[in-house]
Amino acid sequence: MPLQKHLILVGPMGAGKSTIGRLLSEQLSCSFVDVDKVIEERSGATIPWIFDIEGEEGFRDRETQAIEEVCAESPQIIATGGGCILRVQNRQCIKQSGVVIFLSTSVEQQLQRTGRDKNRPLLQTENPQATLEAMAEVRNPIYNEVADLCIDTNLKPTKLVMQEIISFIED
Ligand code: S3P
Repeated sequence: MPLQKHLILVGPMGAGKSTIGRLLSEQLSCSFVDVDKVIEERSGATIPWIFDIEGEEGFRDRETQAIEEVCAESPQIIATGGGCILRVQNRQCIKQSGVVIFLSTSVEQQLQRTGRDKNRPLLQTENPQATLEAMAEVRNPIYNEVADLCIDTNLKPTKLVMQEIISFIED
């Protein structure tokens, strides 16, 4: 099924954006792009390295550039990084460019999925649970505000999440 618009997945770290995006692209036979990967490819560096050298602000600048770049391409499935909704510019860009789907999940699930992940600089804190809770408080209202569809992925089989997304865009 050719996409009319981008399908843009937003949501916190560990919500399954990349996994679901990849599966959706197989199911719908369309291309998939992960904004974090684009940032790494364009910079030739890993995300932890970018945070280390350029700080979060430097990473966010690269993220804004990457979002604009992928949104200017033909319709595809786009997985964004959890913090992409923090900048108004990014929010406007994704809202104008496609159907935005918020994949939400519990902090407990996030912790299980991101537990020992060294590739997420914002979680290298003494208390990742408190970090994730604080992020959820700030970010969840913003995800809800930008999203055309919200799906709670908590304990939901990936296939069902995919089906809900497909039904929504088919309507
Ligand atoms: C971030 C989420 C990460 C990545 C970066 C910052 C965030 O992406 O963009 O580490 O601010 O939540 P994922 O959501 O794909 O882990």
